[in-house]
Amino acid sequence: MQLLPVLAIAMAALPLAARAADPLSYAEPAEVRVTHVDLELAIEFAKKELRGDATLSLDWKNPKAGNLVLDTRDLSIGSVSALDGEGKASRLEYTLAPRDKELGSKLTIAAPTQPARVRISYATSPEASGLQWLTPAQTADRKHPFMFSQSESIHARSWVPLQDSPAIRFTFKAHVTAPKGLRVVMGALNDARHPLDGDFRFEQPHPIPSYLLAIAAGDLAVKETGPRSAVYAEPSVVARAAHEFEDTEKMIDAAEKLYGPYRWGRYDILVLPPSFPYGGMENPNMTFATPTVLVGDKSLVSLIAHELAHSWSGNLVTSASWRDIWLNEGFTTYVQGRITEALYGKALADEEALLSARELQKSIGAMPENAQRLAPEPRSVGADDNLSDVAYDKGSWFLRFLEGRYGRAVFDPYIRGYFDHFAFQSISTEEMLAYLKANLVDKHPGKVSWEEINDWVYGTGIPKDAPLPDSPSFDAIDRQRAEFMDGKLPADKLGAKDWSTQEWMYFLDGLPEKPALDRMRALDKAWKLTGTPNAEIGMRWYSHAIAAGDKDVWKAADQHVTRIGRMYLIRPVYQAFVKVPGGLAYAEEVYAKAKPGYHPLTQKMVERILDEAKKKDEKGPDKPAAPAA
Ligand code: BES
Ligand code: ZN
Repeated sequence: MQLLPVLAIAMAALPLAARAADPLSYAEPAEVRVTHVDLELAIEFAKKELRGDATLSLDWKNPKAGNLVLDTRDLSIGSVSALDGEGKASRLEYTLAPRDKELGSKLTIAAPTQPARVRISYATSPEASGLQWLTPAQTADRKHPFMFSQSESIHARSWVPLQDSPAIRFTFKAHVTAPKGLRVVMGALNDARHPLDGDFRFEQPHPIPSYLLAIAAGDLAVKETGPRSAVYAEPSVVARAAHEFEDTEKMIDAAEKLYGPYRWGRYDILVLPPSFPYGGMENPNMTFATPTVLVGDKSLVSLIAHELAHSWSGNLVTSASWRDIWLNEGFTTYVQGRITEALYGKALADEEALLSARELQKSIGAMPENAQRLAPEPRSVGADDNLSDVAYDKGSWFLRFLEGRYGRAVFDPYIRGYFDHFAFQSISTEEMLAYLKANLVDKHPGKVSWEEINDWVYGTGIPKDAPLPDSPSFDAIDRQRAEFMDGKLPADKLGAKDWSTQEWMYFLDGLPEKPALDRMRALDKAWKLTGTPNAEIGMRWYSHAIAAGDKDVWKAADQHVTRIGRMYLIRPVYQAFVKVPGGLAYAEEVYAKAKPGYHPLTQKMVERILDEAKKKDEKGPDKPAAPAA
């Protein structure tokens, strides 16, 4: 443990090529790097396919290199050619390796003359892991089809052949055709006045990693929320969305005051249909967001603070591998809290920090040791399935710890300097630590020891002196919850009439894993939680009520998981179903109906829960699990 950071800092000084390769990409960036991508794509709803070509500009690093190795998944490749200075094409030989379940198919292009540009003609599969194709019936307005991408973590390769590693950055231009009347948007500057003529052009002049490549198309209206921000959504949703997100411009201002200018130009938000598998995705210039945060009272807009924060932590300074993802998500969760505090006050920011800290305290002990580390070893962790609260909540907690020790007068300019120093670069944890050592720890001695930092970054669990904010409102809820569960306080005497979304979340999070049925029924009778329009509350309510054995909520829980596809909001409900008698069979029925509307990632997530529960069932409920081989 002592040796590790010394070694780590030595490693940070190594040139890029000497760094461990990204285990989730076949790319060989020491040989050649993609520096720019030109996309020429047609969106074909009838076939659920993107078809066209990607022209990659190349920076050959090794004079002896003769191959360009790319990541692909389920692409059908038509042809590959080299382009000379005049754009004249000549065919290149290539081999597409058999599909690996995790990584896709390695595409090896023989390019012995090291051409400056290579063009790949291809089409995507209807099952592309990074795309979802929606029928009109699956949209809010039910009139037009819709499609969108979700490239993070390693799904860009399912719609563009490229070097799909966050260590590699490129600029891009795109020419996209679509049915007339629909609007196409990308993770680039978007023009709200663009005619809906089926012919769109985009440019991203800043070098971005592949996981930030993004596209969507559908019947999209636009409503401005400020001079450099607008909301894009289906016509029946756009006014509600613009109202919910009316503080966007203030959020940009607050972030700039703390961390320097917003460098991307416009910041727009695309509100997707409810099947979007995440809460938000920080696609450059155009955050993609779930409609589940449109609850009418702006209580869930920290999600926008989060995605906006990625414009500094993540999109500007990027984790070089998925193992270092806490550099994106931990920093962003910290910055999110600072934006929330600036707009809505310290009490709300503290509540949100407490909510996630408490959840992490509950969950971290049950994780495999390596997953408890901010910077785990080996470097193979980090694909979607392995992403956990550690990157977000232990990461942001570490930064709040540093903030507390150094004070904001020192820490805020330090973080701003960090963003400036590494702007438009992809870095490892060890590079971040070397900068931390030189610019914070060594400059202000006596505040934080290297052992402490070591423990936060490479240690398991949560350091003992990790600071937690006070929240009088949450303390009051702890007391009321305890009295209520003990039967001393009737449900209708809970002070819940004025509870905010966060207070409800905290109340429900703190319930026992399997609460008493009569308590849950009393709660529902008094506060009508079944059928709540707030899915953050619904997720917590249904999972606890199901665990308590309340079959009366099953139908509403079914509607909750069928109506939305955001994985975080439906995972606990499926998990609760499979643990109660008859619940697995019911969940399977629900899933069979919901599946056609789910995103490929959501399908995979639910199938895993159901499969694991089935395996357990077969072993029999009373027999202990077989010892691991
Ligand atoms: N970049 C993430 C989403 C992501 C992470 C997608 C890893 C795929 C792999 C995004 O910024 C995020 O964290 N979204 C959260 C928002 C929440 C923490 C406010 C989400 O989707 O719930
Ligand atoms: Zn994030």
